Amino acid sequence: MELFKVYPIYDINIEKAQGEYLWDDKGETYLDLYGGHAVISIGHSHPYYVQAITNQLNKIGFYSNSVKIGLQQELADKLGILSGHPDYQLFLCNSGAEANENALKLASFYNGKKKVIAFSHGFHGRTSLAVAVTDNKSIVAPVNETENAVILPFNDEEVLESYFEQHGDNISSVIIEGMQGVGGVVLATDSFLKKIRNLCDEYNAVYIADSVQCGYGRSGKFFAHDYAGVQADIYTMAKGMGNGFPIGGIIIAPHIKPKIGMLGTTFGGNHLACAAAIAVLDVIKSENLLSYTINTGEWLINELKKLPGVKEVRGRGLMVGVEFDFPIDEIRNKLVHEYHIFVGNAHNKNVLRILPALNVKIESLQKLIKALEEILELKAVS
Ligand SMILES: Cc1ncc(COP(=O)(O)O)c(C=O)c1O
Repeated sequence: MELFKVYPIYDINIEKAQGEYLWDDKGETYLDLYGGHAVISIGHSHPYYVQAITNQLNKIGFYSNSVKIGLQQELADKLGILSGHPDYQLFLCNSGAEANENALKLASFYNGKKKVIAFSHGFHGRTSLAVAVTDNKSIVAPVNETENAVILPFNDEEVLESYFEQHGDNISSVIIEGMQGVGGVVLATDSFLKKIRNLCDEYNAVYIADSVQCGYGRSGKFFAHDYAGVQADIYTMAKGMGNGFPIGGIIIAPHIKPKIGMLGTTFGGNHLACAAAIAVLDVIKSENLLSYTINTGEWLINELKKLPGVKEVRGRGLMVGVEFDFPIDEIRNKLVHEYHIFVGNAHNKNVLRILPALNVKIESLQKLIKALEEILELKAVS
């Protein structure tokens, strides 16, 4: 049987990983500064994480949500403390799209309204409503199209305000990334997030913070949105949550009350997934990764700014985008094939995305800086 070819892929077969290093089937070593789109948060095969999952699998891997799963409460307690939202409620699922889909649905259950506001160049996943709230037409199938999805310009407070003035009674929720990932690492301004908070309060709409990529400590705060100093009603998360084990979730403010049966899932919150997510939180705490991420990110951004030919460096913590005046394909290919360093691209073809593990070593990032120096100097000469 053939694989259904939906991805452009490198012809590299990775078989083993440790920390920020990968090995292919030929024994070649690669430096991973991308973590498969921000998934690897505490480093590949972290020993504490491997042990926690192994221990759990030796006890029980799965039972359904028809019984009490104590690990879910342990996860909720630890997540509440580390994220600074101990009074929120946790619902667990399996991926980022599913987290957003559940958040949008819950918002509509809550206020009985239908319209969702999202922003240009955002990305929220590929399930039905999550994909409908993106302006990338190539990933929206006709069956996903809905008049309930409204896309407005990112960071434009006037347009948002006037849309609320005209349609506020129909707006169920506003969904926004704290830093757009696929869009090319573009930060939502603090003042825009505050405006969303105020308008949602005024019109009884739900502020949904899509933290699937920028959350779970990646920005140096647990949720990037919280730099704005206002709280969202629902935060969605996935990627870094399980360090590669598929798990997603939403945390929900106390004023949104549950009803039995309103949300549900077979796999979400299973024993093994919870063990993985708890191990990630334990490592973030014990290795002090939030402050490490802030310091390391500042160092990285400063070094990147010194490189020749760079137009702009954006980001917070270890979610960093480097924009050039030209497409980055050649640079990225050279990094992978000649320097054995993985970084990412973005929908904006001129942006390199750097999303290393939160405990990446500075010496590993120095390798990237040196490689980029060489590539860019050569490019300037030729
Ligand atoms: C901000 C954001 N939201 C949602 C998603 C969808 O997550 P998943 O691929 O786990 O469904 C992604 C994935 O890239 C993302 O970056």
